[in-house]
Amino acid sequence: MVSRLVGAAIGLGSAISATVAAPSAFPSSGNGIWYTDPGRGFEYWADDWLPVGNGYLAAMVNGRTTQEVTQLNIESLWSGGPFQDPTYNGGNKVASDQATIAQEMQVIRQAIFQSPNGTIDNVEQLTTDAGAYGSYVGAGFLLATLNVTGDSSDFVRWLDMDAAVQRTSWTQGNTSFFRETFCSHPTQACVQHINTTNSSPLPGLTYAYSVDAESGIPTPTVSCFDNSTLQITGTASSPGMAFEILARVSASGTNASVTCTPAGKNNATINVNGASASWIAWVGGTDYDADAGNAASGFSFKGADPHESLIALLGPGTAMTSSAYHDLLASHIADYSALISRFHLDIGQKPDFSTPTDQLRNAYQTDVGDPYLEWLLFNFGRYLLTGSARGALPANLQGKWAIDSSNPWGADYHSNINIQMNYWFAELTDMDVVTPLFDYFEKTWAPRGAETAQYLYNISEGWVTHNEMNIFGHTGMKGGGNTASWADYPESNAWMMFHVWDHLDFTQDVAWFKSQGWPLLKSVAQFHLQKLVPDDRFNDSTLVVVPCNSPEQVPITLGCAHSQQVIWQLFNAIEKGFPISGDTDTAFLNEVRTKRIQMDKGIRIGSWGQLQEWKVDLDLPWDTHRHLSHLIGLYPGYAVTGYNPAVQQTAQNYTHDEVIAAATISLIHRGNGTGPDADSGWEKVWRAACWAQLGNASEFYHELSYSLERNFAPNLFSLYSQGEGAIFQIDANFGFPAALLNGLIQVPDVPSTSDVYDVFILPALPTNWPSGSIKNARLRGGLGISFSWGNSALTSLQVTGESVTARRQIRFWHQGEVIRQLTSSPGMNVQLV
Ligand SMILES: *[C@@H]1O[C@H](CO)[C@@H](O)[C@H](O)[C@H]1NC(C)=O
Ligand SMILES: *[C@@H]1O[C@H](CO)[C@@H](O)[C@H](O)[C@H]1NC(C)=O
Ligand SMILES: *[C@@H]1O[C@H](CO)[C@@H](O)[C@H](O)[C@H]1NC(C)=O
Ligand SMILES: *[C@@H]1O[C@H](CO)[C@@H](O)[C@H](O)[C@H]1NC(C)=O
Ligand SMILES: *[C@@H]1O[C@H](CO)[C@@H](O)[C@H](O)[C@H]1NC(C)=O
Ligand SMILES: *[C@@H]1O[C@H](CO)[C@@H](O)[C@H](O)[C@H]1NC(C)=O
Ligand SMILES: *[C@@H]1O[C@H](CO)[C@@H](O)[C@H](O)[C@H]1NC(C)=O
Ligand SMILES: *[C@@H]1O[C@H](CO)[C@@H](O)[C@H](O)[C@H]1NC(C)=O
Ligand SMILES: *[C@@H]1O[C@H](CO)[C@@H](O)[C@H](O)[C@H]1NC(C)=O
Ligand SMILES: *[C@@H]1O[C@H](CO)[C@@H](O)[C@H](O)[C@H]1NC(C)=O
Ligand SMILES: *[C@@H]1O[C@H](CO)[C@@H](O)[C@H](O)[C@H]1NC(C)=O
Ligand SMILES: *[C@@H]1O[C@H](CO)[C@@H](O)[C@H](O)[C@H]1NC(C)=O
Repeated sequence: MVSRLVGAAIGLGSAISATVAAPSAFPSSGNGIWYTDPGRGFEYWADDWLPVGNGYLAAMVNGRTTQEVTQLNIESLWSGGPFQDPTYNGGNKVASDQATIAQEMQVIRQAIFQSPNGTIDNVEQLTTDAGAYGSYVGAGFLLATLNVTGDSSDFVRWLDMDAAVQRTSWTQGNTSFFRETFCSHPTQACVQHINTTNSSPLPGLTYAYSVDAESGIPTPTVSCFDNSTLQITGTASSPGMAFEILARVSASGTNASVTCTPAGKNNATINVNGASASWIAWVGGTDYDADAGNAASGFSFKGADPHESLIALLGPGTAMTSSAYHDLLASHIADYSALISRFHLDIGQKPDFSTPTDQLRNAYQTDVGDPYLEWLLFNFGRYLLTGSARGALPANLQGKWAIDSSNPWGADYHSNINIQMNYWFAELTDMDVVTPLFDYFEKTWAPRGAETAQYLYNISEGWVTHNEMNIFGHTGMKGGGNTASWADYPESNAWMMFHVWDHLDFTQDVAWFKSQGWPLLKSVAQFHLQKLVPDDRFNDSTLVVVPCNSPEQVPITLGCAHSQQVIWQLFNAIEKGFPISGDTDTAFLNEVRTKRIQMDKGIRIGSWGQLQEWKVDLDLPWDTHRHLSHLIGLYPGYAVTGYNPAVQQTAQNYTHDEVIAAATISLIHRGNGTGPDADSGWEKVWRAACWAQLGNASEFYHELSYSLERNFAPNLFSLYSQGEGAIFQIDANFGFPAALLNGLIQVPDVPSTSDVYDVFILPALPTNWPSGSIKNARLRGGLGISFSWGNSALTSLQVTGESVTARRQIRFWHQGEVIRQLTSSPGMNVQLV
């Protein structure tokens, strides 16, 4: 927890008088968020401060006048793991447990098969104490203090999402100040620049570093590396991972001086005087190394001292020392634009240059809506993904933004909805930011997860993870005691494989698939092949997962719909990917094919017309649980959406319409995402995406707009809960854009490469968006698509085949009709409407 006393001590300093117009430098596209007050204290970090990031580093700026407080993050800075406890083993059982647990697993399975209602109370034997699981840790605060006093006027701060730069301008005394902060991906550095915009000189400026507001982190050493560079060295915990930050100051102006002064023991400040402008650039790193996350390295995750690599980024001869500030800014904007600007969304938004974003957000109402704010939140999601996904590690529960030494749920990698949701829109909106996610699986999940497969499941092929992962290969069932209802989720690896398959499907990057995608898919499938067992309860000749429960939801039972649907989709991906994988292991392929036919598909209609969450019909009509686990096949999966009786062959011969009707009943009964268990944003945007999948525009928009009204802070961060001290959790920031898109364009996956891709244009268009357009979305099969609409009707539709490598049948649907069917071809460019 952040100390509120310190927050108060730093204080706001001076009174602010507000303006009522966006600043003149605000993007003319309207693509920015702006405020007429600085961010409040530390306790409002999640509500008011504005994020910048490049994936390696992140920062939150509160945009104050006299003293700017910039909260720092380094992506791999974690407490726990082998850095804190040398015996840390990923929360796993040990080799000598294997035989006993294998026996116990048999006992558990028999108990479930034989129990009158097909459930048992717990699987405590399988869990393991979390041990030194650790948490993502904030990297302290940079304090930039101007020697100015007195009242401010004309204050405005904003985030320019066309440029990925945070800016603040104000007048104090007779001086007009202009400060900007950004984190650039090409240089792996963050930069904060300040100058004056009238003829006044820049007053004296002091840069210092502090962890006073971050209790629990050992006090680091701050020293003068040279006269313009602060060097900060410390550890995340004690003992713990080492980190270093180098922060270098440059000042312009003929009389400018930059001096670093030791301030007592282990402390230092940099003073800038007589300058016309000043900027500080910082880089940071740790001695964490994902490449050392395997048995050969003793799972040490220990890398080199970060100092040399930081010097290589910021030292003499680097772009950071030789480039002029405006060149660094320009290269940052060019890099960001290249990633973000090819895709374009328009939902008929009208930029409002006279209402600050917090007021727009406060005025926002469910169903009434505001296309401008919705559009901003969509763009903000893409902005946050560029700022958090492009490091060596993927975006975590808070992206990469976390203020404390111990953050909610460790700001870890929860892989039973949250991390998946982080990446839902990436492929469709043409953002190649996903490979760090796959590197993370390969380097930190697979090696330790192979041990988990062996010791916990007596399975010698492939690997497994459960619901919560850190960066130290935590793959066991986390928690100890009866935590299995949360932790017993060995399908997390299979769900994450949707993303691996989708990356191939959208990009057609076969070289990547052969080297990384296929080995991931195969090793996860190998595990699940061995884990499926004959159903000795229903005796229906199917293979089931047992024990299982829905993510975070009991009972502990057999044949959970979620598990069965996810594994079925995984097996389909194996069959689809095999021909281009370069793999010749046909025995493996045949085993997948055989077991895929035999396995229960997890599609069953229950006593009150619902899609059953478990193979035993135990669903309660009043269960409004936050997760929609059994509806995974509706969205983001396709086991329900594309249900095909000829392929899925349920014993009951359900028709597609019957299954969709059952899913609809389940979705209705699951409520609107405000329930006794939780009231978070992610559950609402998931519901919104499902309603869009069902083609129900009014329910879709109700849920989407409800999430915006209820779960987003003034700075548009997604909040897990309401009220004071609300927790920031980034998933809904990423789920919102995905859900919004699902109302406009859908291209559900299919079981086989011989299946036709169905593309649904404007499947759930709300009346609030009567006109708009999408440019350069990517579709499965390597297609690109652009379309526009007016008066709620499609007005143009263009399809291109830039990345098409294999010809596929594509059907385009609009308003319930197939408007065109064609065969894709490389380089095609067809105007369909
Ligand atoms: C554990 O796996 C081995 C090798 O597959 C097998 O021989 C043994 O029967 C398994 N043990 C149990 C209790 O299932
Ligand atoms: C299953 O039956 C047991 C024993 O009667 C009972 O304790 C348990 O609550 C039941 N579980 C469910 C989900 O109905
Ligand atoms: C701040 O500025 C005032 C007036 O220009 C000057 O007298 C004072 O020494 C400065 N303080 C510091 C700490 O530089
Ligand atoms: C601002 O400028 C005016 C006119 O030159 C002067 O009277 C006043 O003292 C200045 N204010 C400050 C805070 O420097
Ligand atoms: C202040 O810095 C900004 C950002 O680099 C720049 O656009 C502006 O021209 C500068 N203003 C002056 C007066 O130098
Ligand atoms: C730092 O600057 C001060 C003042 O200009 C100077 O006396 C000192 O020698 C410099 N130190 C280094 C290490 O360059
Ligand atoms: C720099 O200092 C010199 C000597 O004090 C002075 O004459 C000159 O005006 C100053 N230049 C600026 C830009 O402040
Ligand atoms: C470091 O020095 C600065 C400036 O003197 C001071 O404000 C800060 O409290 C010091 N920090 C520590 C940890 O002593
Ligand atoms: C399934 O078969 C087992 C033995 O193989 C038997 O004990 C059980 O009663 C059967 N269950 C049903 C529902 O037929
Ligand atoms: C499902 O269809 C199969 C094949 O047509 C048929 O043999 C079977 O009886 C049907 N099952 C039900 C429950 O109608
Ligand atoms: C959401 O559901 C709760 C509980 O049923 C209900 O009280 C509330 O009115 C609903 N709100 C919206 C906006 O749907
Ligand atoms: C959308 O869902 C609601 C709630 O189930 C239902 O009342 C309405 O008829 C549905 N609309 C459409 C177009 O299916």
